[in-house]
Amino acid sequence: MEFGYSEEQRMLQDVARRIAREKIAPSAEHHDRTGEFPLENIRALGENGLMGIEVPTEYGGAGMDSVSYVLAMIEIAAADAAHSTIMSVNNSLFCNGILTFGSEAQKQQYVRDIAEGREIGAFALTEPQSGSDATAMRCKAVKQVDGSYVINGKKSWITSGPVAKYIVLFAMTDADKGARGITAFMIDTTRAGFHRGKTEPKLGIRASATCEIEFTDYVASAEDVLGSEGHGFKIAMSVLDAGRIGIASQAIGIGRAAYEATLAYVKERNAFGAPIGTFQMTQAKIADMKCKLDAALLLTLRAAWLKGQGQRFSTEAAVAKLTASEAAMWITHQALQIHGGMGYSKEMPIERYFRDAKITEIYEGTSEIQRLVIARHETGLR
Ligand code: CAA
Ligand code: FAD
Repeated sequence: MEFGYSEEQRMLQDVARRIAREKIAPSAEHHDRTGEFPLENIRALGENGLMGIEVPTEYGGAGMDSVSYVLAMIEIAAADAAHSTIMSVNNSLFCNGILTFGSEAQKQQYVRDIAEGREIGAFALTEPQSGSDATAMRCKAVKQVDGSYVINGKKSWITSGPVAKYIVLFAMTDADKGARGITAFMIDTTRAGFHRGKTEPKLGIRASATCEIEFTDYVASAEDVLGSEGHGFKIAMSVLDAGRIGIASQAIGIGRAAYEATLAYVKERNAFGAPIGTFQMTQAKIADMKCKLDAALLLTLRAAWLKGQGQRFSTEAAVAKLTASEAAMWITHQALQIHGGMGYSKEMPIERYFRDAKITEIYEGTSEIQRLVIARHETGLR
């Protein structure tokens, strides 16, 4: 067993760390306060290969592996979680899906601009009445005699929906078949019949723009089908397996930022004549933070490694996402407590880490859904 990173993996980690420190961290408070979409920084990430880390170089990506993706995501999330949300959708939900299931023409048409950060991609599965229960979707694509499809319906909570040029959309083509009646489509948002709703105000990851989108008689051609008709749900689930590695990495980055801030604070803040880090109650929290971060990192690297080996990693990705997101929530909660009143103040980034951590327990499958995926696998029961 090899625990070290390769030279290439370390190089990409260094690139991500440099951009995170020089460009993203200095403006994180601004982006959180204003909710302004960080287009300039996203372009910089794209120019440095970080919007298509696992995309082969011939399609405009960095041609790196899943472990590199984990390392880069952690660095960006540690500087600002909202940037890493945009990054994760472009990398894992958009590019990964097309590279795995798309035709050569779709790879040529859609991947390069997104992998190079010139355009933004999105992934639309959730609807107002169906989130966890994703097969209960109502968005419909009705096949026409000429082989094209007419799409009508709404999708909600779409990350980068307000700015995306292309979207991977899941719609029902045969409601009688349930999960097997769902088809994935490539959507061009410049075409007629596509509409964006207002940007949602959110608790955290405020610079990651999220909105409802709507289709009214949007016409998709037969060539716009991703994979084949009726295979959309499997595509969504398989893409989300990879996506969950990205969200686990994001959670680790947020947790690490809160942990590092706490390590510094417990040495400089005094109470009762001693640094607060000398109190055993504080030390126990520091030790637990370290254990949770290390466990989350190792589990996430395991899932990434399995993916790189071409092995099934659905359960391992769910284990990683569940462990890392709950670790991030616990660590940011304790970090805020250890900072006392300053933790609650906007003068320090701790309250932002706390607000940002929460989303990792909700999107790309809630913690309850990760437990369901894991327990179904372990017990064989449904
Ligand atoms: N890979 C491939 N196929 C899979 C799969 C996987 N990981 N998981 C399930 N499938 C297949 C099954 O084998 C089954 O196929 P058959 O029809 O051939 O038997 C089919 O999919 C249906 O599976 P289930 O019966 O298990 O489906 P279910 O209705 O019980 O749902 C679920 C399972 C795990 C709860 C799923 O609905 C789920 O993951 N829900 C959460 C949705 C989610 O994560 N949404 C995220 C939206 S994107 C997002 O959030 C982005 C962002 O924030 C940035
Ligand atoms: P519900 O499914 O209504 O769940 C409500 C509660 O019930 C949760 O606690 C849930 O865990 C619990 N629950 C549901 N079913 C079960 C069960 N079987 N057992 C136990 N408990 C259960 N979606 C996209 O498609 N694309 C995106 O880009 C995207 N980005 C998002 C960005 C943000 C900021 C947010 C908030 C959401 C985003 N989502 C996106 C949607 C996200 O994936 C869903 O919010 C999530 O899957 C949960 O669905 P829901 O909100 O409908 O909650």
